[in-house]
Amino acid sequence: MASSQAQTLFLFLTHVLLLFMPEMSCLASSFVVALAGASNQMRNEEAEALLTWKSNLDSESRHALSSWNGSNPCSWRGVDCDPLGSIASLSLSDSNIHGTLHHLNFSQLPNLVAIKLANNSLFGNIPPSMVDLSKLIHLDLSRNNLLGNIPTQLGSLRSLQVLEFSHNKLSGPIPREIGNLTSLLTLALSVNNFSGSIPDSIGKLGNLTILFLDENNISGSIPSGIGNLSKLIQLNLRVNNLGGFLPIGINNLTFLADLRLSNNNFVGQLPQDICSSQALVNFTAANNHFTGPIPRSLKNCLSLYRVRLDNNLLKGHITGALGVYPYLNYLELSNNELCGELPSTLGKCRNLTSLKISNNKISGPIPPQLGNMIQLHSLDLSANRIVGEIPKELAKLKKLLELSLDCNLVVGPIPPELGALSSLQKLNIAGNNLSGSIPTQLGECPNLLFLNLSKNNLEKSIPIEISNLQSLQHLDLSQNLLSGEIPRQLQLLHRLEILNLSHNKLSGSIMSTFDDMMSLTSIDISYNELEGPLPNIPAFHNATIRVVRGNKGLCGVIVGLSPCTSTTSKGRDKNKKLVLISIPTLGCLLCLLLVVGALRIGCQRVRKTKASSVDGSNENPWAIWSFDGRMVYESIIEATKEFDAEYCIGEGGYGSVYKAQLQVGEIVAVKKFKDSLDIELASRKAFENEIRALTRIRHRNIVKLYGFCSSSRHSFLVYEFLQFGSLWDVLNNEQRITTFAWNKRVNVVKDVSNALSYMHHECSPPIVHRDVSSKNILLDEEYEAHVSDFGTAKVLQPYSSNWTSFVGTFGYAAPELAYMMDVKEKCDVYSFGVVTLEVIMGRHPGDLISSLASSSSASSSNSTASRWPLKQVLDKRVPYPIGDVLGQVAFIVKMAFSCLNVKPEHRPSMQQVSQAISAHSSIMISSSEDIKLEELVDPRCFP
Ligand SMILES: *[C@@H]1O[C@H](CO)[C@@H](O)[C@H](O)[C@H]1NC(C)=O
Ligand SMILES: *[C@@H]1O[C@H](CO)[C@@H](O)[C@H](O)[C@H]1NC(C)=O
Ligand SMILES: *[C@@H]1O[C@H](CO)[C@@H](O)[C@H](O)[C@H]1NC(C)=O
Ligand SMILES: *[C@@H]1O[C@H](CO)[C@@H](O)[C@H](O)[C@H]1NC(C)=O
Ligand SMILES: *[C@@H]1O[C@H](CO)[C@@H](O)[C@H](O)[C@H]1NC(C)=O
Repeated sequence: MASSQAQTLFLFLTHVLLLFMPEMSCLASSFVVALAGASNQMRNEEAEALLTWKSNLDSESRHALSSWNGSNPCSWRGVDCDPLGSIASLSLSDSNIHGTLHHLNFSQLPNLVAIKLANNSLFGNIPPSMVDLSKLIHLDLSRNNLLGNIPTQLGSLRSLQVLEFSHNKLSGPIPREIGNLTSLLTLALSVNNFSGSIPDSIGKLGNLTILFLDENNISGSIPSGIGNLSKLIQLNLRVNNLGGFLPIGINNLTFLADLRLSNNNFVGQLPQDICSSQALVNFTAANNHFTGPIPRSLKNCLSLYRVRLDNNLLKGHITGALGVYPYLNYLELSNNELCGELPSTLGKCRNLTSLKISNNKISGPIPPQLGNMIQLHSLDLSANRIVGEIPKELAKLKKLLELSLDCNLVVGPIPPELGALSSLQKLNIAGNNLSGSIPTQLGECPNLLFLNLSKNNLEKSIPIEISNLQSLQHLDLSQNLLSGEIPRQLQLLHRLEILNLSHNKLSGSIMSTFDDMMSLTSIDISYNELEGPLPNIPAFHNATIRVVRGNKGLCGVIVGLSPCTSTTSKGRDKNKKLVLISIPTLGCLLCLLLVVGALRIGCQRVRKTKASSVDGSNENPWAIWSFDGRMVYESIIEATKEFDAEYCIGEGGYGSVYKAQLQVGEIVAVKKFKDSLDIELASRKAFENEIRALTRIRHRNIVKLYGFCSSSRHSFLVYEFLQFGSLWDVLNNEQRITTFAWNKRVNVVKDVSNALSYMHHECSPPIVHRDVSSKNILLDEEYEAHVSDFGTAKVLQPYSSNWTSFVGTFGYAAPELAYMMDVKEKCDVYSFGVVTLEVIMGRHPGDLISSLASSSSASSSNSTASRWPLKQVLDKRVPYPIGDVLGQVAFIVKMAFSCLNVKPEHRPSMQQVSQAISAHSSIMISSSEDIKLEELVDPRCFP
């Protein structure tokens, strides 16, 4: 009775409502209105949940939510209700909300369909109570400061289609319960600290179109279940610790438009069929260990926009692997082992802005058709085996900012047409066989910042038009055949910071040549025919003799240079006139003290140009002494009182080093072996030839080997004597160490890298040191480093059965040396890495290396050493470096780590190392915030 009365009253009220609220007439049925009425109470409860949350936020956040008051939450900012008036979505992205989610009672908001709180300052954990949101479809908490794990309970949010937690500080594993979210279309967990492996249950998310797991610490391999995600369009796994082979099923992902695998440790081949449906747009797999060819399906993959496969071990021919890509914007294949010629069809990629294929084995000429890629900004083909001339058609690339063709075999003249490259900022064509003169038209590239034409055969004079390059900061014309005077107009280059004109035939006085160059910080005019007083500019104020030596008659205030009082700066060493000739005699079975200047140089690229200028032969005392082998032998025996301990200056596994002051007043270092070498007559010829070749090596950072003597009693090598002894001596000398400042240390590392690079890459056949250690690196009085004992390890080894130290010094030898008979250049790279750390740390790095090696492998990433700040390992006996020097030191440490990579093939070449150091590479760090070692360990990020 009472209930039927109530029903009548209710129907009446409903009619009244419908009469007075026409906008509600769409809710045609009174039954619905009844429900709406009933939900009022619930709405209050929902409003209460939100208000409770608001009251627990800070005042600024509450201010952002000032519209949240009263009893109708549907009108509040960011709140939307469903047709029934229940809160369905909370959209407060970018709202400056600062607080946690703990006080938001999700059980009071059971109808929530969407939560969008991206880009606020939420902190604390993701509350497990979210499990109550059974209707939730869209959950976006990205770009906050959330911590902790993903609660496994979220696996029951069966309706969820979009889950975005990117850019937080979430950690722990990705729960396997995520595989229960079978409606998911988007799963974005980028840029967090997730670890562990990708759960195999991810294969259950058959509707997934977007999967972002990039920039975490996820390890293991990609689960094979990924092959079930056949609707995937975007898959981003870059910057993790993933490894192993890619699962075969990845070829099933035929809708993939965006595949990013860069910066992991993947091995094996790239997926060959990855573009079989012509959907692929972006494909990056850089910085992995992929081998095999460029995927065959890329050849006809017209959809490509951006491709990065650099820093892998890809092999095979490039010629047939690349097609014509109308949309392609960016192509980088640098640092692989690709061979073949550049296909001329590349020129049809009209939208390409960057083409970088440096450091491969590309041969053949540069196709003139590349001049048709009119959008090109950057063309880098450096460090290949490219031949032929520079095509003048490249001048059509009006948008080109960077052209790098350095370290190839390019010949012919520099095309004057290049002057039309009006946007060009960087031109590097160093290290080729270019000839002719420098075209005056280069002066027409108004935006040029960096110009490197070094290491070619360019001749005639430096065109004065170069002085029109008003933006130029770095000019390197060294190691050419340039002659004539240095144009005075060069001083118009007001922005120039680095100028290298060394190793040419430039002549004349430079007194006022550089007067206005106040921005210049580094200048090198060594080994020319210059004369007269040095100009008074800042660049010379802190310079050492090394940047001016080898000239005809310069004078000035640099230590080692004659002061400008008189004009007698030449002929200093004229009293030392002796020539060494090798004559086997009674007392000296074999003396190979050789005439240096008279013999052909064994190293290709030192070539004729340098032969006349490096230590110009009339400056080398040995070349002008007259001396016979027996005399040398006897003088040495006499000068050392037959190797008396008094003259001993060092010892090693091989024997001892003596300082011998010869009668003529010249000091040499004599390295005497413990036992006399027993060289059979039959092999003596080959032995002599090898030693002779080593005496011909001439490089400023390699200790000069004068010769070798052997009698039945003694065998020894005779070397140039260096004042400061070995690097090891300096590092262990508590007085001297305090003056071994950071810039000097950086220079020592640079010098050693130059020496090794020269021996590995500019000598034919390459010469491997095999025993690089701090005891084999000698320093002169300017702390310039000179590597000693180059190549002797190999030459001498067959003749000395008990010469154990010659297979490398303990603590410096690369791990593979133990089981690889075939000693390659990369072993020297490893030892170089050890020495570099030693220079920076002031002591042998010891266990640091092994602990870093294990931390860079996927298995354990928590080794304590890798968490050390850089500061902790820097030698504390000198003041902490600041500014640019700190950046350079950090760079050098990073480079050393890459040299210490356990896998020889992943170590950089010495050429890459020496180029990177010579380019003053550094890492930006502010001195206050310190950088951790692990940030510098990046096995594939070199250079
Ligand atoms: C959720 O996932 C777990 C682990 O994958 C599984 O054991 C469980 O049965 C799933 N729950 C439901 C309700 O499907
Ligand atoms: C994909 O979504 C549809 C509905 O949109 C659903 O029926 C199906 O079960 C989902 N597939 C998987 C593998 O979860
Ligand atoms: C790839 O797709 C084929 C056919 O669609 C299917 O049979 C196979 O199981 C899939 N492979 C993987 C590894 O998922
Ligand atoms: C490809 O990359 C470009 C540039 O990074 C980006 O704008 C574009 O959206 C990407 N395309 C796809 C399909 O992911
Ligand atoms: C090249 O790029 C332009 C704009 O950047 C675009 O409109 C065009 O479709 C692209 N492809 C071709 C073939 O021109």
